[in-house]
Amino acid sequence: MMYASIIIITLSLCIELSNGFFARTIRDGNWRTKTHIDITVTGTLRAIEKYIKLNKGFGSIDDFFSNDASGKDTMMKKVFALRNAVADTQGKKKDIAYIHCHADQIFLAHNFVKSCKKKLIARKGDLDEFITQLGECLYTVQSFYSNTNWVEMFGGVAYEDFGINDLMEVAALEEDTCLDNADYNSQCKNNIKVNGKLTSGYHQGRGNTKPAKAIGSSTGKCSHGGPDDDSRKLVARCGINKDTLTPEWSPHSHLHEQAYKAAVQATDNFLVANGTGVLYIIGQTLFEDVFHVKRRRNMTLAVAIDYTASMTDDIAAVKTKVIELLTNTVGSSNEPADYVLSLFHDPETLNTAHKYIDGYAMINKIQTLKTVHSNDHDCPEYAASGTLAAIELMRDNSPLYVFTDADAKDAHRLQEVCNAAKAKNIPVSSLLTNQCSRRKRSALGRDERSVSSLSFYQQIAKATGGNVYETDKESIGNVLDAVIEETFPSSEIIIDSFDWSATDTNDQNITVDSTITVLKISVTGSSAETDVDIYYANGTLETYTSGMSTRIYTSSGETIISIQHPADSIMKLRRNVIKDWKVNITAQSSIKVDGEILEQSDTGEMFSLKGSPISDNNYTVDLSVYNLGPNGTCHNIALTDSTGNIIVSHQALQLQRGVDNLCAATFRTPNVEFQVKLYGNDNSGRSFTRKLSEFYKPSSVELQITGPSDDVIVGKESLIGYEVINRGTVTETYQVSISDDHSFVQGTTSEDYTLLPGDGANGTFAVKPTTPSVIFSYTISASIISTGKIQQSVTRKLVVTDVERPDCTVVHADGICGISSLNTANCSLYNWTASAEVTFSGTLLQSISSTVGMSVKLAHVNITGLSFGPIAVNISGNCCTPSLYINVIDVDGFISQCDLSFGDGQSVQSAEDVSEPSGSPGTDVYTIIIILTVCVIQMLKK
Ligand SMILES: *[C@@H]1O[C@H](CO)[C@@H](O)[C@H](O)[C@H]1NC(C)=O
Ligand SMILES: *[C@@H]1O[C@H](CO)[C@@H](O)[C@H](O)[C@H]1NC(C)=O
Ligand SMILES: *[C@@H]1O[C@H](CO)[C@@H](O)[C@H](O)[C@H]1NC(C)=O
Ligand SMILES: *[C@@H]1O[C@H](CO)[C@@H](O)[C@H](O)[C@H]1NC(C)=O
Ligand SMILES: *[C@@H]1O[C@H](CO)[C@@H](O)[C@H](O)[C@H]1NC(C)=O
Repeated sequence: MMYASIIIITLSLCIELSNGFFARTIRDGNWRTKTHIDITVTGTLRAIEKYIKLNKGFGSIDDFFSNDASGKDTMMKKVFALRNAVADTQGKKKDIAYIHCHADQIFLAHNFVKSCKKKLIARKGDLDEFITQLGECLYTVQSFYSNTNWVEMFGGVAYEDFGINDLMEVAALEEDTCLDNADYNSQCKNNIKVNGKLTSGYHQGRGNTKPAKAIGSSTGKCSHGGPDDDSRKLVARCGINKDTLTPEWSPHSHLHEQAYKAAVQATDNFLVANGTGVLYIIGQTLFEDVFHVKRRRNMTLAVAIDYTASMTDDIAAVKTKVIELLTNTVGSSNEPADYVLSLFHDPETLNTAHKYIDGYAMINKIQTLKTVHSNDHDCPEYAASGTLAAIELMRDNSPLYVFTDADAKDAHRLQEVCNAAKAKNIPVSSLLTNQCSRRKRSALGRDERSVSSLSFYQQIAKATGGNVYETDKESIGNVLDAVIEETFPSSEIIIDSFDWSATDTNDQNITVDSTITVLKISVTGSSAETDVDIYYANGTLETYTSGMSTRIYTSSGETIISIQHPADSIMKLRRNVIKDWKVNITAQSSIKVDGEILEQSDTGEMFSLKGSPISDNNYTVDLSVYNLGPNGTCHNIALTDSTGNIIVSHQALQLQRGVDNLCAATFRTPNVEFQVKLYGNDNSGRSFTRKLSEFYKPSSVELQITGPSDDVIVGKESLIGYEVINRGTVTETYQVSISDDHSFVQGTTSEDYTLLPGDGANGTFAVKPTTPSVIFSYTISASIISTGKIQQSVTRKLVVTDVERPDCTVVHADGICGISSLNTANCSLYNWTASAEVTFSGTLLQSISSTVGMSVKLAHVNITGLSFGPIAVNISGNCCTPSLYINVIDVDGFISQCDLSFGDGQSVQSAEDVSEPSGSPGTDVYTIIIILTVCVIQMLKK
């Protein structure tokens, strides 16, 4: 059983497309093979380290983060997001040959990398989009070393001009680049024919077709090689990829290490090379945001609160958030250095300010905080005085949050407040709710207070670098969550969560591992703090007298137990009253788990699932376990239902990588909502559990978005395509609808489809952006009409630009390459012609070319100096080139391709060269048989 499950996992992880270095997992079975994941992590960390040495005055990443382990974790999270973005590019862009540097399309790849500069700048307002784009750019930068002959010529060094300056010579489209090698399933070391110029391999089925050679030819274009690439069987046979250390996968496996080394160096250069790296394009501040090159400082958590009667809801929200933060962090490195609470009112004699070093003292104070009615019935309070009192007690460089719903009665002290805050570099932010303002407005019939109060708090914010958040009582909790999380991230992990129903046993085990610095148990549904107790493994009851633990009952009906540095063991939670409860167990710990659900496409590649998993389909749960230590292990991955019960559990496959462990298992999607839970042993051998916070809702409908992946143009309509497929077992009527955050959607916003099981339907929605230089987000959802429940929901973002990058469309194509023309003997006798139109404006064109050169003629007007289209492109050729692309590139490297295909997807087959004398009829029959067999294989593969 145990071995069976390992084998299943290994197989399912193995099926991943090879298109360059492996994206995520190692298919050749050699654990020393390096993937895009490894290259990205190593290269990026090296770049960040260089940045820190040069700009922060520290010798290494570890030195920089020596007092801020969770800051380092946050940085690693960014690096992991980037490596996933790189890996996902392989599947997402599998049919675009130049993205992988395939098929001698190196000039296109070079321009694609050049275009990254503008693309990244356009995404600087959205760090997630920025990282996704950066991942796509790095994917091509890295693929260059596995897929071209650079390493064969120059060894394990980066090509500094790639994507930046002029590209060195690339082999001509009609030039043979490789020597034929009959032994195409093994290493073929010296098979490259060209010298001093770049070439790359063709890869069958990846958006390119290897030009056929006459039977008996001894040279031809190079192939990528390896079992996924059938072009390795066509002259020039074998291949040149350096994806792996295994000869069967990589004909140039002997250069894998050097290709890896060069790709790491190129990744590092792309990020921080002096003058040309991304750092120099976006600047230091954004670079530090993108990779979280920031250290936590010892800061005061400070709040100044108006505690008049109208503030009851606000104070409840502040209480909840502060208690949540403190019970999570007191005793850990994420705890604020100290606490300041300033209470203000009217008259000023009711103002008080407090400072606490001990987080528990702050909790006690906050717990007992109550609003007080004022005898004075006007709205304004002594806010300036309250703010000043807080500033006085605070550490430098810490933020202050002021909560009020009223004006400052002492607004004349504005300058005094600003000066005091600036002297200590304290940004003062205000969270303003408006109850008092409304009351006054209705009395006076105009909104007088609101103007003066806003200006008081806005002027302070402006002078000190703070913000003003205007909110209502209902959403103050959310605003507060966001602002506090920003400055005091608590980053707790979940150990477990479950429903403790009245019928369960009265004891629950809690697995405490040796990495836990703060353990927090929260029980909702309890009615007093004494409802629940916790016992140590030795049977001792925790009594909260040591100063290292606390137990409180909150106003929201929750009992919270927080224990610092609990001994690693199995602890016992015991209830003293029997009721239905919900329990969350969280902790501060260095062992962190990040998860992805990977989906496998029809063509075999693994990529991260977007949207909800389809019921009964198989997916791989891929967990990145960080800080596990050299002896740590993961042994099982379970799916749990909404009550915390295990639905299914599988043994995990574990792979130690440079900076983390990969733990993975493959599951069939259950029919209920689920979470993922990991079981393992920490570095000292103690059991640990971690639960991921994401809930996955299985769905019976698949929703694919085929929207524009490039930028959209202001004032121009773009279509967003979708496909909806019924993956369930009964006929269902779905509604597909679109929404967006900028009101750019035009016309229809929803469509209904009744679909039989297995059936699908296509549709489009139109968007027409009206504002340039924004990033807008749209969401397409599919819901079941009868229940109104959303089944799938996919959100995408697009950049709006006012530059219309080149866009090539085929206007007309004439000619057919039938089976009789598709062989090297006859193909030149059959001609085709086509024309295309290229639109663009606000940019200049750099070049127009085709991806295959053999007897292809391309004609267009002189493009020099043209700043807008449309222009016509005429192209003609013969059936030796039955399919090709027209490439249009602008001066910034933006590429558009027109897809031309005359042979119904078939490729040219090798035949005896007609120029050689061959009178024997036997040969002709033989030739035809070859052609037919190959075609049948081709059709079966479709
Ligand atoms: C970067 O290049 C500039 C100009 O060539 C030079 O002055 C500077 O010292 C270089 N910086 C580093 C870190 O090499
Ligand atoms: C923050 O406080 C800790 C412990 O109190 C101390 O070790 C550390 O040096 C302080 N860091 C800074 C930047 O002041
Ligand atoms: C709880 O842990 C103890 C060991 O400490 C073990 O004997 C017992 O079986 C566990 N109970 C459950 C329900 O897992
Ligand atoms: C039981 O364990 C706790 C935590 O490790 C410890 O504080 C306590 O002293 C122990 N009690 C006894 C009786 O050993
Ligand atoms: C428990 O955790 C879940 C998910 O993380 C969260 O939605 C819920 O609010 C938490 N409940 C309590 C009582 O903290």
